[in-house]
This record gives sequence, C-alpha cells and structure tokens, in this order.
Amino acid sequence: MSQAILEIKHLKKSFGQNEVLKDISLSVNKGEVISIIGSSGSGKSTFLRSINLLEEPTAGEILFHGENVLDKGYDLNNYREKLGMVFQSFNLFDNLNVLENAIVAQTTVLKRPRSEAEAIAKENLNKVGMTEQYWKAKPKQLSGGQKQRVAIARALSVNPEAMLFDEPTSALDPEMVGEVLKTMQDLAKSGLTMIIVTHEMEFAKDVSDRVIFMDQGLIAEEGTPEQIFENPKEERTKEFLKRFLK
Ligand SMILES: Nc1ncnc2c1ncn2[C@@H]1O[C@H](COP(=O)(O)OP(=O)(O)OP(=O)(O)O)[C@@H](O)[C@H]1O
Ligand SMILES: [Mg+2]
Repeated sequence: MSQAILEIKHLKKSFGQNEVLKDISLSVNKGEVISIIGSSGSGKSTFLRSINLLEEPTAGEILFHGENVLDKGYDLNNYREKLGMVFQSFNLFDNLNVLENAIVAQTTVLKRPRSEAEAIAKENLNKVGMTEQYWKAKPKQLSGGQKQRVAIARALSVNPEAMLFDEPTSALDPEMVGEVLKTMQDLAKSGLTMIIVTHEMEFAKDVSDRVIFMDQGLIAEEGTPEQIFENPKEERTKEFLKRFLK
C-alpha cells in the first residue's frame, strides 16, 4: 500500500471576497511526482503557497504524516523545513556565493556543523551540475538556468521530504529550460516526492505519476499523464490543452 506524506482536505483560500481555492483535496504519496497544470489565475500558485503555509488557508486540513499542521501547537517550523520550495524567480541570496547559498539554511536553521553542511551542499551542487568551478561565483555571474539549479541544490540541502516547484522554468531563456528540466527529471527518478506547477506539457507528460488540471480554484480533472493528455474527459481540460498543444 502506498503511504501518504501529505493529505490535503477541503482546502479553501480567499483573499477578501475573492475565493481563489474553492475546495481542494489531494493526497500525495511518498515518491510521487504530481504536476499541476491550468490557466493563469486558476489558483495553482496559491495552492502551492497554501500547502507550505506561505498563505494561510481559510479552511480545510493539511495532514502531514497524519497530523493536521493547522492545529494549534503544531511545530510549523519543522513542517516548513520538510517542504523545499523552488520559485520562478530563484530567490537566491545575491550577496552570497553559490556554495554559501546552499550552506546557509543548513547551519542556521538545522544547526548543522559547518563541515557537514559544506559537504552536503557540494554533493547537491554536483548533483545539479553546478560543479566546483561555480562555487565561488555570485548569483549575478550566473545564467538563469544555473541560478535555478543552485536554488534546487539549496532546497535539496535541507533534506526535504517533498519539493514544491512553482513554474521553475518560466522565467528562463528558452535555451536554459532544458537543463533545469533535466535536473528535475533526474530528481523525479531518484524517488523524490515532487509537486510541480508547470506549463511544460511534454515534461509533465514524461515525469509525472499524476497530473492535476486546475480550473477556477478547483481540481477539474486528475489522472495519469496518458488520461489527461491523451484522453481528457472534461470539456475544460480539452479546451485548455487545445490552446497549449496546438
Ligand atoms: N496575495 C494575494 N492577494 C490577493 N489576491 C491574490 C493574491 N495571490 C493571488 N491572488 C489572486 O488569486 C487568483 C489566483 O492566482 P494564482 O497566482 O494562484 O494563479 P495561478 O494559477 O498561479 O496563475 P499563473 O499561471 O498566472 O501563475 C488570482 O485571481 C489572483 O489575483
Ligand atoms: Mg502561478
């Protein structure tokens, strides 16, 4: 039987009168790769940000290993550490070099000894192809694709149980997209649990165990990549894909 890391139940999120997430339930199993697709404004980013509590849900439950993280007294810092997040805009520390970017959360948040943190940072930077020649570079000396790979290595270095990606390639020049997708593909194969918001449909088709199509704050359809991309049932899914896969 598969094991749920995260169970999201009847999640809702409003900004003022605007109900952006209307009633979302999703269970994420260990090692599963889930892609979320959908039109601009459908609530994909809000959903990811609500999962790791960058936004406070208006209603619903988020069970992490069976415990509701929204309950009073739950150790939220611990929960947040267990979810790595990679954004469209990299969010690196511009004043720190590549290696330090991948070290800092380990020594400050996790209180790891410096030598151990450094070894882990180097291992993860190598894993994403940011080898020794780049370690002393500052973010501004890197291409967008390189920056995003550093951001991924940094997130991996705190040993998250799951990684959330919000359109990690959509700010990149087209020639940089492939290297970042390849990195993510390798991570997916390594058994990492991943939730990925993306507009890269070919990629979603290749790496995902499950694809979620969001529309107007709801999961309109979900299924295997084959079901969603080759045999969508909902008219809204068909319309959306027609626009994207033209
Ligand atoms: N902090 C906020 N305050 C008010 N409204 C917000 C906020 N964040 C998002 N919204 C609204 O929530 C809705 C969904 O936005 P969201 O960013 O989740 O969409 P999305 O599916 O990620 O779109 P895109 O594909 O363009 O990134 C939009 O109508 C947006 O204006
Ligand atoms: Mg978004």
